[in-house]
Amino acid sequence: MNILITGAAGFIGAHTALRLLKDGHQVTGLDNFNDYYDPQLKHDRVRWVEQQAGRFPLYRLDLGDTEALDRLFAQVRPQVVIHLAAHAGGRYSLENPRACLDNNLGGFLNLLEMCRRYPLEHLIYASSSSVYGANYHLPNKASDTVDHPLSLYAASKRANELMAHSYSHLFDMPATGLRFFTVYGPWGRPDMSPVLFAQAICEGRPLKLFNYGMHQRDFTYIDDLVESLVRLLGKPPARNPLWNREQPDPATSMAPWRLFNIGGQRSVQLKDYVATLEQLLGRKAQVEYLPLQPGTVLDTCADASALENVTGFGPQVPLAEGLGRFVDWFQSYYRPPLPPRS
Ligand SMILES: NC(=O)c1ccc[n+]([C@@H]2O[C@H](COP(=O)([O-])OP(=O)(O)OC[C@H]3O[C@@H](n4cnc5c(N)ncnc54)[C@H](O)[C@@H]3O)[C@@H](O)[C@H]2O)c1
Repeated sequence: MNILITGAAGFIGAHTALRLLKDGHQVTGLDNFNDYYDPQLKHDRVRWVEQQAGRFPLYRLDLGDTEALDRLFAQVRPQVVIHLAAHAGGRYSLENPRACLDNNLGGFLNLLEMCRRYPLEHLIYASSSSVYGANYHLPNKASDTVDHPLSLYAASKRANELMAHSYSHLFDMPATGLRFFTVYGPWGRPDMSPVLFAQAICEGRPLKLFNYGMHQRDFTYIDDLVESLVRLLGKPPARNPLWNREQPDPATSMAPWRLFNIGGQRSVQLKDYVATLEQLLGRKAQVEYLPLQPGTVLDTCADASALENVTGFGPQVPLAEGLGRFVDWFQSYYRPPLPPRS
């Protein structure tokens, strides 16, 4: 397949590109290499992909640049677009609300316009477990109410789902939204807990555990996510004239549009997660227990049974194993100077 990945130098984008290239697909990437976190990590990810799968066209391009985006679509004519580019993270959106919305809404709108102008077989885009917000019904089902986001980032991801729906309906554009649940693994984002915690443990600094470590998170190992995504490529949603308009299921539609959760489907308390990291790193953590942060969802746990029914695949990698692979990468990439054992 001829596939375009936005955010291809990002954590999930690089892993996805590698897998698709290895599977023999024709992959084109775009990324603006922004400095939300160290762009060197993005360049290193791309080098890692290319070392294993050979060079592939990766354009340094911002989704805000509609002319360049149009030229790219005219040239590539992708059958499938995997849209991963975004300003990720609730904290960022708290401090940079306009940048978050400009990017996550404006960028997505530009992309939808391209998919309208150059019709494609399937648009797959990243949403987030954060859309569940104040809804505390666990496990989170894609058909649950998601009208109470706790951060602007979450609101932007929910808005993406709704924008995709209108385009699917109006322009017959098959679109699948995937709500990712805390994705982790080698080459992970430095603003997320695996890297932040491992760095603090290795440097002998206190790590911050919000909500006094009582949070539960559903962690998704990157390879499990990529496997599900790959299996969805050739399964675009179809129009469903029998869709029940009187009792509408929020995860499906009469339009060719669907929402799925992608998660490990098992919640882990952050305290236990830190204990696993301590064991793997062979160091004790100094923990600073802090109250709940504004904008943070309390607990997450995915019900991904709908996705499993379609892909025939469920999560395979247990947290301890996935964190082990993460720690191996972390130690070789960052080579952290270890303080003396206490
Ligand atoms: N990692 C997770 O746990 C997680 C959880 C839920 C949702 N998501 C979503 O999954 C997607 C990928 O996340 P990630 O963890 O790989 O993040 P990431 O920040 O590593 O990757 C995103 C990439 O997009 C690029 N980008 C951002 N804005 C762009 C723009 N306007 N034009 C071109 N490129 C742009 C960035 O440079 C970055 O390389 C995001 O949409 C994120 O919101 C991630």
